[in-house]
This record gives sequence, structure tokens and C-alpha cells, in this order.
Amino acid sequence: MAGAAAATVTPIESEIPFKKLKEGLLSVTSTEESKDVISVDDKGGDSTVSITVVGASGDLAKKKIFPALFALFYEGCLPEHFTVFGYARSKMTDAELRTIVSKTLTCRIDKRENCSEKMDQFLKRCFYHSGQYDSEEHFTELDKKLKEHEGGRVSNRLFYLSIPPNIFIDAVRCASSSASSANGWTRVIVEKPFGRDSESSAALTRNLKQYLEEDQIFRYFDHYGIIRDIMQNHLLQILALFAMETPVSLDAEDIRNEKVKVLRSMKPLQLEDVVIGQYKSHAKGGINYPGYTDDKTVPKDSLTPTFAAAALFIDNARWDGVPFLMKAGKALNTKRYSKEIPDAYERLLLDAIEGERRLFIRSDELDAAWALFTPVLKELEEKKIIPEYYPYGSRGPS
Ligand SMILES: NC(=O)c1ccc[n+]([C@@H]2O[C@H](COP(=O)([O-])OP(=O)(O)OC[C@H]3O[C@@H](n4cnc5c(N)ncnc54)[C@H](OP(=O)(O)O)[C@@H]3O)[C@@H](O)[C@H]2O)c1
Repeated sequence: MAGAAAATVTPIESEIPFKKLKEGLLSVTSTEESKDVISVDDKGGDSTVSITVVGASGDLAKKKIFPALFALFYEGCLPEHFTVFGYARSKMTDAELRTIVSKTLTCRIDKRENCSEKMDQFLKRCFYHSGQYDSEEHFTELDKKLKEHEGGRVSNRLFYLSIPPNIFIDAVRCASSSASSANGWTRVIVEKPFGRDSESSAALTRNLKQYLEEDQIFRYFDHYGIIRDIMQNHLLQILALFAMETPVSLDAEDIRNEKVKVLRSMKPLQLEDVVIGQYKSHAKGGINYPGYTDDKTVPKDSLTPTFAAAALFIDNARWDGVPFLMKAGKALNTKRYSKEIPDAYERLLLDAIEGERRLFIRSDELDAAWALFTPVLKELEEKKIIPEYYPYGSRGPS
């Protein structure tokens, strides 16, 4: 799929609540300022973090997760004692995993010092265990290996599920029964897609909660078109943070309580308040830019929106009658976004290691978010609404 996504939320009111938020909340999570706030306080001592990448033989692990872990290591953001384990069914030795991983590691643009030395140090901390996703026995073997590396320290364990969603539950069941930490925390990052609609998302949550508490689950986001991909989660999060009342404290739960209130006050999105688009191929300056359906993995007749603009309304006294305009699109003219975009995977991993839950989504938040978008998503699909086509690199449908 081509092009990074660009997204905006345009509130039509004064900026005062936003400023308050910026001073209070956003400073904690702002990616621009993240270097100041993300250093890990606990530089080691008696505890250790073991990060198991489940599905380590896959593309996402190679291209995103291991490089993000290396970047965190390079920047000194990982604890002193940490180990990375790859877990998947493919047979591989530690050395083979290291060779594969080493091919995708890169250093940050502005800091290339000691890069190869750092890479070697990082790779020495990477190991591999081959096993089935539904085998408690294989996860018990992993547990033994993790313990050897943890060397009797307090063990904290993070499992990153980089596998197809239909095997999430098996892997969580086995990890929780056979490879949870005995004396530290155990957390799980669940890769997107987290359901396709209200029902499938609720079913996945229900199943995960058989084995995990809410505060052990770190969800990532969906991958089915721009509405689910960007609007239903990222933009809605920003909107909820912007429009919520001031929380009683900056505690993650207090913030979430206010976000959920505002999400529940929103009216479900109506079809007449949405414009959808899809980018088409475009030639400019002798270069041919591909259309969405030119991608080999996309069906030629796909109606998946790659652009959406929507007006949302909040049914409470403060925001009565104020439309919130959301716009998100892929393959847009992105000249305005010239700054380097911090890597979402680094942020995600670090937040999960630190137990920073402010930006992770709680089950009731997820339910409320899906309730707003599911009716319109179903209507778009059932009525086979044809998106408006826009040229690659333009500003979207005109
Ligand atoms: N690639 C991306 O850019 C991207 C972006 C966003 C989200 N995601 C999501 O992230 C997850 C991982 O992505 P990926 O591209 O790395 O996926 P992938 O290559 O299809 O799967 C990762 C690994 O899972 C195992 N696997 C695949 N299909 C399986 C099946 N049917 N049953 C059991 N094991 C299976 C394979 O390992 P073994 O055969 O060695 O066990 C594979 O190497 C997926 O859920 C995907 O939807 C991917």
C-alpha cells in the first residue's frame, strides 16, 4: 500500500481547552518531546525485561518490531537487563535470527556514532525459540529459556503478538498459563487488527480477558481502510482528548473515564456526514504514481476508502451544535508534513514496557468508539458505496 497516511481533526471552537490539554496531557505523550520523557528510570538493578516477539519469522517483526527495539536500545531507552526472544513455528537458530534481524536494523539519522558496535550488542541479546502457538509445552520450554536469561532477577515479560488474529487467543492462553512472570509483570501487545466491528472486537476482548486483566493488554490498531485504520481510533482519540472535560487527575484511569464520557455523548456517524475517496494512478513529471487498486494485494474492484472526511457531533451542553470535522487520507500531497515522523512501534513498545497506559485504549473506550462507526461502516459496505476517486498526491476528492 502506498504512501503514509495524513490526518487532521478540525474542531470549530476556541483553542482554550486544547491549550489546557497541551500543557497538561499532551506533553506526556507528544512524540516530538518524547525523548525528554521516555528514558527508563529503572536502569536495571534487580529487574529484567524479557520481550518475546511471537510470530518473529514474519514481515512485521523483521521490518518494524526488531528495528524499533534496536532504536530504543540505541537511544538508551531499554532497561540495563533485557532479552529479546523471537518465537514462531519456523525452525531457526539464534544465529539465523540474528542474521535476518541484522539486515533490517538502521541507526537514527542524526546519531550514527558507534552504530555497528551497538548493533552487535543488541543482536547478542536476541534469541529464538521455535514452537507452536497453541502448545503449552512449547511455551514452557520458552519459559525455561527466559528464566535462564533472567538469572534470578525480578522478571518482567512482554509478549508482542505479531501473528494473524485467529491465533491470538491460543498464544495468549499458552503464554499466560506457561510463560507468565512469577514475580514481575506480564503484558501483551496485541497487533492490529483488533476486530472489524463492534461484535468482533467485543468477542476478541471477551476471549482475551479469560486469560488477562485489562491492564495487561496493550492494543494496537486496525488495518481495514482509512475509517477503521485512522478515524475510528487515532483521530477519535485526539477528538476525545480535546473535547473531554478536565480529568480529576492525570492518572490514566481518570483520563480514560473522561474520554469514555465524551465518546458516549457522541452521535453515531451518519452516512450523509461522510465523504469517502480512493486514490487512483497519476502521472506527473514523467513519473507514474500507482493507484490503490494497482497494489497486487488489493482486489481490482476494491471499494476500500483510502480517504474519508466526516462530521461528528457531541451531544452535550459544551459542544452542542459544534461539528468536528475529521479528515484522513493516504497518498495525499504531504508536503506539509516535512518533519520526521517518530516511529509508532518504538513508542508502543516503550509505553508497554513502562506500563504507560494513557494512550492505550480500554475495553469500554473501544466499545464506545466502535458504536460510533459500526453503523456507517456496515452501511457503506452493504450499499457498496463507490468512493470518489482522487489522483495520487492530490489533496483528496475535490
Ligand atoms: N506487515 C505489516 O506491515 C502489518 C501492518 C499492520 C498489522 N499487521 C498485522 O500484524 C500481524 C503480523 O504481520 P506479518 O505481516 O508479520 O504477518 P505474517 O507474516 O502473515 O505472520 C507472522 C508469522 O505468523 C505465522 N503465521 C502466519 N500465518 C499463520 C497461520 N495461519 N497459522 C499460524 N501461524 C501463522 C508465521 O510464522 P511461522 O510459520 O514461523 O509460525 C508468520 O511468519 C498480522 O496480524 C497482520 O495483520 C501487519
